[in-house]
Amino acid sequence: MKILIIGTGYVGATTAMVFAEIGWQVTGLDIDAGKIERLRQGRLHFYEPGLEELISKHVQSGRLRFTTDKETAIAGHDVIFLCVGTPSRPDGSADLSYIQQAAEDIGRSMNGYKLVVTKSTVPVGTQEQIKSWMKAAQRQPSHFDVASNPEFLREGKAVEDALRPDRIVIGTDSTRATEQLQTLYRSFTCPWIVTKPRTAELIKYASNSFLATKISYMNELARLCDKLEVNVKEVAEGMGLDPRIGSSFLQAGLGYGGSCFPKDVSELIMTSRKHEANLHILDQVVEVNHTQFAYLLDKARSRLGGFAHKSIAILGLAFKPDTDDIREAPALRMIDQLLLEQANVRLFDPVAPLPVRPSYGVVTVCSSAEEALRSAEAIILCTEWPEFGQLDWEGAKALLAEPNFFDGRNMMDAGRMRGFGYYYQGIGNDH
Ligand code: UDX
Repeated sequence: MKILIIGTGYVGATTAMVFAEIGWQVTGLDIDAGKIERLRQGRLHFYEPGLEELISKHVQSGRLRFTTDKETAIAGHDVIFLCVGTPSRPDGSADLSYIQQAAEDIGRSMNGYKLVVTKSTVPVGTQEQIKSWMKAAQRQPSHFDVASNPEFLREGKAVEDALRPDRIVIGTDSTRATEQLQTLYRSFTCPWIVTKPRTAELIKYASNSFLATKISYMNELARLCDKLEVNVKEVAEGMGLDPRIGSSFLQAGLGYGGSCFPKDVSELIMTSRKHEANLHILDQVVEVNHTQFAYLLDKARSRLGGFAHKSIAILGLAFKPDTDDIREAPALRMIDQLLLEQANVRLFDPVAPLPVRPSYGVVTVCSSAEEALRSAEAIILCTEWPEFGQLDWEGAKALLAEPNFFDGRNMMDAGRMRGFGYYYQGIGNDH
């Protein structure tokens, strides 16, 4: 079986690498000639630890190829994975135009049986839609199957997650498709779920929304912890020892960002409304997430007596460490509000660049954390990059105009920071 991956973004590039790594012949297809040119040289267009090395290895071994030639690529491959983007529309629903385009391209260019597999996160019912888009575009009738095989990898851990998944979910109504996918993934030993396409599609949304719910629950609980003078980290530790709860995704902080959680929670809310079975709980998950940055900012504002003309060091911009992704990053909300209140913002992130926007012209982008701290009246830590933990905080105090530290990720040890003479506050761990 020769595998074609349509879309060489985050999920597409990782999926291509995985199949090449386990021995298959893979082609990556994209309409962006620039991306394809870089990939042909074994270079990635985004930051992901370890991925570029493996892509480059398989470009050299000849197992991984890249092209912009749709028609030839579709005609020459038996199994086609859809890994194109499904961005949010302004109303929160998923925009399926790239999926539709790919389905129509396949329908038009197919010359025999094809198995089309959706890796992109798509709303429940999309498998049926893909079938009808393909059918409508066909020039001559030809048999095909469409399966759903959602991807659960995390940014920053893509290689590890994709090579060692904790489950493989396959949604299909065809035995032939199931058998082909079982062959493709035969070297994986993790649990499998073979189910209806709609179930597979919903598993992805339900998983991400559940994880987002865990985070918002802890974030709201952290606000209560502040009032009760209880440390939320200790509460999380005690909760996490119960295997029914699990210890992951219990870290309170500035809230979740990234390309998946915000988008997937919105889409599931839309789906639930459409079917008049509202998931009200998710409205509150979103509300807590949107207000969490303001919760920490309020603490800083009352300490400083307002932000106007105060110098504030922002440490971290990426929505989480080990990525340059700033989509829906809480740090951006923080910066926007600080600028609105006329603060002087000094920013440092080891990897993520500040987007070009007229309002960001006044932000001082620094090349080290120490530089960002210089003469600052407060530090607001937004991303828990490991290097921030290793900084000589005792020595760094001398760089600051005022030693105020607001820890948006509860990264530091409160007692230690206070011992160094900082006024230190986190989220639910101020005691
Ligand atoms: C997520 C899912 O984990 C993954 O399975 C899916 O395929 C895509 O969406 P990702 O967006 O890469 O992955 O990031 P993840 O590591 O899950 O973190 C998401 C956000 O939640 C980050 O902003 C992170 O800082 C935040 N988070 C995570 C918390 O605030 N607290 C936690 O305890 C865990």
